Order: sequence, then C-alpha cells, then structure tokens
Amino acid sequence: MKLTVIQGKTNAVVKVIPIYEGSLDKKTSCGGLSTAIKLKNSGKFKESYGDIYTLAKEAEEGFVYRIFLGLGKKEELTPEKIRRATSKAVKEAMKLNETSVHMKVIDSPNVCFYDVIKAMFEGAVLTNYKFDKYKTSNNETKKFIEYFEIFKINEDNFKIAENALKEAQDIIEGNIIARDLVNEPANVIYPETLAEKAKEIGVKAGFDVKVFNKEEIEKLNMKAYLEVAKGSDKEPKLIVMKYEGNKEDVQNILGLVGKGLTYDSGGYSIKPTDGMKTMKSDMGGAAAVIGAMYTIAKQKLKINVTAVVASCENMISGGAYKPGDIIGSMAGKTIEVLNTDAEGRLTLVDAVNYIIEKEKVSKVVDMATLTGAVLVALGTTASGVVTNNKDFYTKLEIASNNSGEKVWQLPAFDEYKELIKSDIADLKNIGGKCAGTITAGLFIGEFVQEKPWLHIDIAGTSWVDSDKHYRTKGGTGEGARLLYHLAKEEQ
Ligand code: BES
Ligand code: ZN
Ligand code: ZN
Repeated sequence: MKLTVIQGKTNAVVKVIPIYEGSLDKKTSCGGLSTAIKLKNSGKFKESYGDIYTLAKEAEEGFVYRIFLGLGKKEELTPEKIRRATSKAVKEAMKLNETSVHMKVIDSPNVCFYDVIKAMFEGAVLTNYKFDKYKTSNNETKKFIEYFEIFKINEDNFKIAENALKEAQDIIEGNIIARDLVNEPANVIYPETLAEKAKEIGVKAGFDVKVFNKEEIEKLNMKAYLEVAKGSDKEPKLIVMKYEGNKEDVQNILGLVGKGLTYDSGGYSIKPTDGMKTMKSDMGGAAAVIGAMYTIAKQKLKINVTAVVASCENMISGGAYKPGDIIGSMAGKTIEVLNTDAEGRLTLVDAVNYIIEKEKVSKVVDMATLTGAVLVALGTTASGVVTNNKDFYTKLEIASNNSGEKVWQLPAFDEYKELIKSDIADLKNIGGKCAGTITAGLFIGEFVQEKPWLHIDIAGTSWVDSDKHYRTKGGTGEGARLLYHLAKEEQ
C-alpha cells in the first residue's frame, strides 16, 4: 500500500469523511457537509462511533463515493479508536472495488496531530494485510487497496505529518514482519530459516545478528533448551540480536527474549489434532521480538537493546525427552518434566539466563505464546503479564496505550510459587490445573535473578481465527508494536 499525506483538497473517487457526534447539528451547509446533514436528518447516518454510510454519486466517468464515518464524542477519541475507525473505512472501500482511498485528516483535541496521522496509517495498512503468497490463482482473493492518502492537512502541520508517516511505516513494517513469520508454515520457518530471516532483517534495519549452532549451545550449557530440541531432526539455533543506540551508556541494556518454538506438537504429552493446527505460531514471541528490533533500529532509538530467541521444535522421536525426566538448565537448577507440552518455559529459562549472564542486560522482557490458560482468562483481547517490578509495568502500560496492544497484569503471590516446587528436583515444569498462566510466568521468574522483569503471555493475542478490525485472520504480529513502544519509553 502506498501512503501519502497531502495539503488541501483532493478529487479522489473514494473519499472518507470522519464526523464527530454533534458536528452535523449546526444546520449549516458549509464545509461540504450538507449531504451528511441530510443523511443524518433522514436517519441514514448517525455520528456515533463506528457508524458508516457510503453515498455513491454519478459523475462524468462512473461513480464517486463519499464514505461518512462516525467518530462518536470528540473528547473520547483515542489512537486505538482512530486505528479501528480507519480500518472500518478501508474495509468499506474494499467492497467498492476501488484501489485508492483518500481520507480527510481527523482533528482531535486530545490525541496530538502526530499520533492521529500515525494511527490512521496503521489502521489502514494493517487492515489491508494479506498472506496469500501460496495461492497460485487469485480469483478468490478479496480486493485490496493500493493507495491510501490523508488529505486536508494544513501547511503548518505538513512536516509533522511527513515525520509521523515515516514512524508509522517503520511500525507497520515491524508488525508485518511478525505477522508474516507467524503465518509461514513450519516446513518453511524452522530454527535455521528463522535465524536466516533474522539476519536479513538485521542487515535491512541496522542491528547485528549472531547465530549459535547446536555445538555452541551445548558449550553454553543450555541444558533445558537442548532437552526440548532433541526430539526434532531440525537443529536448534540460538539467535542473538544486538542494537546499540546509546553508546554513551553501554551498561544499560534492555533485554528481550522471544519464545521461538517453530512447531509445538506437544512432544510425548501430545496435543490433540485441533490443538496442533495452529502450532506453527508458537514462535509468535520470537516474531514479535524480531519485528520490534526492526522498528527500534529503523527509528534509531537512543537505547541499547539485545534480543535472544532460543529456537527449536518440540517433536516426538526415539531421542525426545519424556514426562518424568529430570533435566538440568544453564543456571544449574534441576527441573522435573511432568509434561513435555510445557516446553516453552524450558527454552525460555535458558534464554533468560543467557541474556543476563552473557549479554549483561539490565532489564528483561520475555514474550511468549506460553499457555492456553491465558486464552481462557483474557481471550484474544489482552496479553497476560507477570512481573516483579511495578515501575517497569507502568512503562508497559504506557506502551500499551500507545500501541493499542492490550495487557493485563496477573498476581504473582508467593502461594503460586509453591505450585511449581518439585519433591525430587528444584522445580517442576507444570503447576497443576489452576492458575496456569501465573505458574508458567513464575517458573521463568525463578531465573531472572534480581532484574526488573516482565513476562508477557501472547498465546491469546498472537493469533485470531477471523478478521477483527485491523487484526487480520491468522498471525496478528502482536507484541512487535508493544515492544517498540516500550523501548521508546525506556530511552
Ligand atoms: N504453545 C503452547 C501454548 C499455546 C496454546 C499457544 C494455545 C497458543 C495457543 C504451550 O507450549 C503449551 O502447550 N502449554 C500448555 C501448558 C500445560 C501443559 C501446563 C497448555 O497451555 O496447555
Ligand atoms: Zn507446548
Ligand atoms: Zn508451546
């Protein structure tokens, strides 16, 4: 999709006109709103948030369309509402079989102009996303918009709009990198190819990528990670990404860890067929981290960020780990494996220990499609968070407000920690039937030492079964935008 900002008016065929509640009450016909006023008076169009009405007018060459888009109360507008409203308008335009959409800039008293522009572009492009590269015929695919333009920007604001467009583009691309990685099947994206992709993206965006093979991972003593990986014929790859944006403060490093299970069959604690269908997406945390690194580097944030993905597959074979095994870990703690499907936490604890001990990060965020339980608790709406640090969580909340990717903090009381203590090893990898997302998070928390830490479970948010506003069916790329905004807060 080609994006532009323009000053003044446009002669476009498809124009979207955003309208606040009450703005058609003035009964004047100035400002080109007379048609909208008539529509309102006839009850065809309300100005409430999300209401939409398309008017087709015959012109010299075919039709021109005016899409009236209700924004609701002016003072209640947020960046996320702008994204979703824009998404709605773009979907409406898709139905018209047109390839170009021009939308009038939204003026808002509470969202700054820069953020308005950003949100409009994000909402438009992310709605337009398609993952159809494996379709050999195009006759079934829906129409997509090729040009999206924001018009009626005044001269004074034009430079700001152009800058907002640049940031929006980097944010959108980061999210799309993550969506694409998640949507690719596991026979295409496996540890080696995921590492290759990370390298390509690193070159494009400007961050370093180092990949460790199995032998090197063995030398690092990442025993828990290797236990998960050993059931697969695909070699594990430890992917380490580094962006140094603040050379004057090299001690301060934000550490990001992404779960990188390119496929999760469950292992010997095998998943049912239905549960396995979407398990190519079990590297959603890795995808988000790689997407975030892209945007962080492209935007040249003044911060040092190191990201680690301990990538592997969870499979079944004569060499695979088994329920009942007692395994080691890089940190030295022993773990009783009671369920081979609780594999993510085993790879993550070694990645977390690695990033603290070897990369010397000062703070740790891990992002993972870790538990089905988070879907039960929060659905596909919000990611579940476990943390040991209030201030760090406050920054995540700010990032969440800015990105529109919702988070919800879960309690981390000591009672929950009791549930993952083993009788015969230091820890066990499941905490029983209850509080599954919390015990999974706290399992990782056992390895973060005293570092400020956020665990973000995106198992519910990283995949949707059908389109919902600008989140399109399949991988949502959840987390890439959130982590970028968190890094921005940490600068
Ligand atoms: N990858 C899954 C979690 C998952 C479930 C992600 C649904 C996306 C959608 C994870 O490895 C897993 O299988 N977790 C188990 C943990 C249990 C055995 C304690 C789960 O949630 O059932
Ligand atoms: Zn699993
Ligand atoms: Zn998993």
